[in-house]
Amino acid sequence: MKIGILISGRGSNMVAIVDAVKSGAIADAEVAVVISDKAYAAGLGKAKERGVETVVVERRGRMRAEHDAEIISELKKHGVELVCLAGYMRLLSPAFVQAFPNRIINIHPSLLPAFPGLDAQRQAFDAGVKVTGCTVHYVDEHLDNGPAILQCEVPRVDGDTVDTLSARILEQEHRLYVEAVREIIRRKHDR
Ligand code: GAR
Repeated sequence: MKIGILISGRGSNMVAIVDAVKSGAIADAEVAVVISDKAYAAGLGKAKERGVETVVVERRGRMRAEHDAEIISELKKHGVELVCLAGYMRLLSPAFVQAFPNRIINIHPSLLPAFPGLDAQRQAFDAGVKVTGCTVHYVDEHLDNGPAILQCEVPRVDGDTVDTLSARILEQEHRLYVEAVREIIRRKHDR
């Protein structure tokens, strides 16, 4: 399974997937390309250090359809079969979603459908929920929407700050995203 990973920033979930492929924890897979919409995304260096090809496709005031078309063409050029959004902070156009039917997944730091959008950990913290978590889900053209693949609960504990809670969620994100990719590869083999 050739995987393409889209990032906009730090790229820690991308690193979790790349390292799991390298260690064999995710078998029968290859990370073919990491694409960022930001030239300064810290994750780009981390991908390069790991020997993964990187591509920057900046938005530069272009229309979403045009930007997405360039990303789709990069993904196709690299033979990508599974697209993993890892902190990629843009909505995908319907054409993008249709180009990879049931083959685009995303990680989000809340128990969706609760707290979609930016700063989900803070949204949950401010709402005072006792349990939040993270979700890996199939992507459609709506924000943090689409059927869940896996979810993991993370309880808020006494003395938590947004930062400590976010750090515990992130730890689970890395584990959950790897598990979800394994699950999708398993489903592909079962078909
Ligand atoms: C992660 O917490 C991810 O769940 C979140 O952005 C962060 C990216 O971190 N994604 C969303 O909020 C999507 N709506 P990373 O670049 O270190 O993986």
